[in-house]
Amino acid sequence: MKVGVLGTGEVGKALADGMLLLGHAVMLAGRSADNPAAAAWVKEAGPLASHGSFADAARYGEMLVLATQGTVAEAALTMAGPGNFAGKVLIDVSNAIEGSPPALAIVGRDSLGERVQRLLPEANVVKAFNTANHQLFVHPKLSARPDMFIAGNDDGAKAEVGKICEAWGWGVVDPGGIESARYCEAIAMARIINAFRNNAWSVAFKLVS
Ligand SMILES: NC(=O)c1ccc[n+]([C@@H]2O[C@H](COP(=O)([O-])OP(=O)(O)OC[C@H]3O[C@@H](n4cnc5c(N)ncnc54)[C@H](OP(=O)(O)O)[C@@H]3O)[C@@H](O)[C@H]2O)c1
Repeated sequence: MKVGVLGTGEVGKALADGMLLLGHAVMLAGRSADNPAAAAWVKEAGPLASHGSFADAARYGEMLVLATQGTVAEAALTMAGPGNFAGKVLIDVSNAIEGSPPALAIVGRDSLGERVQRLLPEANVVKAFNTANHQLFVHPKLSARPDMFIAGNDDGAKAEVGKICEAWGWGVVDPGGIESARYCEAIAMARIINAFRNNAWSVAFKLVS
């Protein structure tokens, strides 16, 4: 499968590497096609890797990943061309965090995940990986198998994303439709604040019974 990853930061690169490990071809994208971080990643990543602009990657990918800074995610998707997302699974990893101390920019009865779905009504948005540290996305080395929360309206899309989670060593927790992105984003914030307070970066959530 061809995967387009929007976002040239550590998160975009970690997910791009994970997709290559699964045998997919990956285009990593920034605002401009000649983004130096994306070009450097391609040099290391091998023949299935390429880079381009947000719009190039959105056209290229059969599955897409949103891994831009959260407060500009809607602007990035607009640059990418909303029509390019129609009928595709979009994994939304972004968290809209602002200020110091950091806080969620969108709270209450809305979330970034829902805004992304509203902007791209024909895409199947799945909020996933936003609750974990990027260093743990792919084959995390932890004391137990952690759980990934995935929220989205389309069960088929969640099944596809769930398979990727499992392939990378995660259990899957499904709290429901994209409206539950509100809670996934809040959980992410709790993880981040705990990480800063206790220097606890290599930890992840797990539901136990
Ligand atoms: N750090 C983690 O472990 C972690 C874990 C889970 C989720 N997240 C979330 O994942 C996302 C990515 O995090 P990150 O640290 O890898 O990268 P980041 O620094 O938050 O974002 C980098 C990307 O945002 C784009 N961007 C910046 N300003 C923009 C603008 N004005 N318009 C359009 N695009 C713009 C950049 O484009 P260019 O490439 O053109 O510069 C780049 O591709 C964030 O939403 C973050 O909250 C982070």
